Formats: sequence, structure tokens, C-alpha cells
Amino acid sequence: MENRPQWGTRAGFVLAAIGSAVGLGNIWRFPAVAYENGGGAFFLPYLFALLTAGIPLLILEFTIGQKYRGSAPLSYARMNKKYEWLGWWQVAISFVIATYYAVIIAWAIRFAGFSFSLKWGDDPEGFLFGSFLKLADNPGDVGGIVPGVFIPLVVVWIITLGILFKGIKKGIEIANKIFIPALLILFLIIVVRSVTLEGAAAGLEAFFKPDWGQIANPKVWVAAYGQIFFSLSIAFAIMVTYASYLPKKTDITNNAFITGFANSGVELLAGIGVFAALGFMASQAGVPVSEVVAGGVGLAFVVFPQIISEMPALNGIFGSIFFICLVLAGLSSLISIVETFVAGIEDKFKLSRTKAVLFGGGLAAIVSILFSTNGGLYFLDAADYFINNFGVALAGLVEVIIVAWVLRELKNLQSHANSMSDIRLGSWWKICLGIITPVVLGYMMVQNIVTNIK
Ligand code: PHE
Ligand code: NA
Repeated sequence: MENRPQWGTRAGFVLAAIGSAVGLGNIWRFPAVAYENGGGAFFLPYLFALLTAGIPLLILEFTIGQKYRGSAPLSYARMNKKYEWLGWWQVAISFVIATYYAVIIAWAIRFAGFSFSLKWGDDPEGFLFGSFLKLADNPGDVGGIVPGVFIPLVVVWIITLGILFKGIKKGIEIANKIFIPALLILFLIIVVRSVTLEGAAAGLEAFFKPDWGQIANPKVWVAAYGQIFFSLSIAFAIMVTYASYLPKKTDITNNAFITGFANSGVELLAGIGVFAALGFMASQAGVPVSEVVAGGVGLAFVVFPQIISEMPALNGIFGSIFFICLVLAGLSSLISIVETFVAGIEDKFKLSRTKAVLFGGGLAAIVSILFSTNGGLYFLDAADYFINNFGVALAGLVEVIIVAWVLRELKNLQSHANSMSDIRLGSWWKICLGIITPVVLGYMMVQNIVTNIK
């Protein structure tokens, strides 16, 4: 316990936490989720979830990691021996995410290169699914590895494991000190470019137009909580792990607010940038914005290539910058995801860092090769289904119930955090975690299931 590695500086920790939070979820997932769940009206449940669950949970996880000084399984075990499994469950979720997250970064690397040559031609969709992913027509035909995906995937793993081998201060901290400022600058360039395009206003209008009727829909609330948890990397054992490398004295509460607001800021910017660009595309095609919106894979790898092809001058550079942003945001998150289970097995089996990275990271890398076959998208769908149904919101709900009600630890953790912070956590923090989050989230999840069954 005494020679646990530590962050070099407070800024190093905060940048790493922001690096974990800001990822594909912000740039790729948020704009689509918000649009599908009420547009401007989505901001209400989203803000509610951020303030009553997101930031309070972030404070909770930072405090647990910093106080118990272990990877998630070890920290929960130190809190109470019976709850080590909670840590391993979250580590398992992270492991699954790592395997497909890496593949999406690999696609983005290829697309950053393709942007220069507009390699997708005039049919980005056919290109992505046909010649790029070379999807098998049915899962039975799955077999071959697609080199165009496999090679960048190897690059992703070499970079990620290379950084993790170097450890906390010399690896993760330095990487984030480079990636995050670079990401912010490049991303601002993209957003400014997008909002000055013709048709941008129509895109923004489509994005922000509130559909208030959606507010009463439990699905929208579950989506808001899911987005907040995924986006802030909470309930994935990650923030506990990162906080376990904090020095004995540090202002946890303040760090959590910075991380939470920075992440949502990038999310908002991404929504603006993406929808401004969609507005441009709609105006080029002379159709309403709603016709060009496609979520998930489609948005980043089909619609964006289309937009890039239609951009007047500068298209190659603009497109590459967009995909480089995805790569930087993705890598800094992937590092945190992999660190989570590397740290987990390092603590559990008393492995050296090198061995833990080799086993843990190596295993994730090997499993991820599955997704670089011509059946990759089927596996990706299955993994994503698993995460949405057994991960995200559920893990967060179980975590607050155990910590707040079963172990009744909130009071201890609150005084621990307060002893080091300028911001005093009052009873609102305990009310958010002990009552509001479990009641609202639990109720919405049950309602959501009931409506789905009907
Ligand atoms: N928070 C990251 C994002 O928004 C992704 C992530 C999810 C990272 C889960 C770690 C764990 O993309
Ligand atoms: Na995020």
C-alpha cells in the first residue's frame, strides 16, 4: 500500500480524469442520443442526471479510490470484504467496452487517412460496410480478418499498452497532458468551421428544438442517466482506480466539479458542431435536416464522410481533423478503461506492472481482434447490447444502493472528502446519492421495462 504509484501533479490527475471522460461518447454518442430523446427537451433530464447523479457519483468514486487506495475490487473489499464482487463486475464491464472501443478508434485512424483522398467515393455507406468492413452477409460466413481494420487496431493496442507499461506518472499522465490540449484545440477548429457553414442554423434548430412531449417518457430519463454514466466513466471502476493514485491530501470535490463540467462542455460543443454540419449537408441536398440524421455508426462514419466530400475547399484537412479528434478522445478513454482491469489484476494477484499489462491488456487486445473480422459489426452489436442491459445505469444503481444503504458509508466518505476540500459537501450530496438517484433511476428503469414489455 505504501509504494502505490502517484500522479505527479494535481493537473495531471484532472487531465487524466477529463481524458477518460471525454471520449467517443461525447463526440459520437451524445449528439445522436440527445436528438433521439427530445432534442432541446433532453437537456432537462440530462442536467438533472448530471447534477443529482453524475457529479455526486464522481465525488463518491474519487473519494472511495483516494481513501482506500486500491483498484476498484480492492477498494470495495477494503470498505467491506463482502463487496469485492461489485468492483469485479464493473471491471468486467470495462473489459467488454475496451474490446470494441479499440476497434472504433481503429476505424477512425483509417478514416483520418482516407479523408485526404476522399477514398470513400460517392457512396460512403457502401464503402464502410462493403469494401471497408467487408461484412459477411450472414453471421455464418464470419471468418476472415479485414486487414484495413486489423492493422490500425494493432497500432491502437501498441500505443495504449506502450503508455500503460510506462505507468501512472510517466505514461498515463504525460499522454493526457499532450492528448487533451491537442484535442481541445483541434475540436474548436472543427466547431468553428461547422457553425460558419451554409445551413448551419437549420441544423442547430433541429438539434435544440424541444419536443416537450418526450419529457414524460421513462425511456428518455433512462437514456439521460445512461449517457451521464457512460460519458463520465462512472460505475465502470475507472474513476475509483484513477483516484487511487491521488496523494493523501487533495481537493476531491473540486476536481470532480471540474471534470464533470468539462465533459458536459465538450458534449454540448459536439452537439453544436455535429448538427451544424448536418444542417450544411441538408442544405446541400435540399432536404430537411431530419432526413440526413443517422445515429451510431452511421453518424461518424457515413454521414461525416459525406459532409466532408461536399465541403468546398479544405475538405481533406477538415475531415482528417475530425477523425483525429475522435482518435485522441478515444485513446485517452481507452487508456483509462484498460488501466482499470490492469490495476485490478495487479492488486489481486500481486503482479508486476509489466505482467499485468501483458496479461490484462494482451487479453483485451486478442479478444478485440474478433471485431476486426468480417463479422465485426455483429459482435459489436452484441457487446453493445450487453453493456446497455447489464452495464451502465444498472451498475450505477447497485453501487449507490450498496454504498448508501447496505454499508451506510456516505457519512464517512463525506467527512473524508470535506476534510480536504474548500467546497463542503452538505446533506444535499447524501440526499442525491441515497434517495434521489436510486428512486428516480430505479423507477425509470422499471417503467422502461414495463413499457417495453407491453
Ligand atoms: N467516458 C468515455 C466516453 O464518453 C467512454 C468511457 C466509457 C470510458 C466507459 C470509460 C468507460 O466516451
Ligand atoms: Na464522455
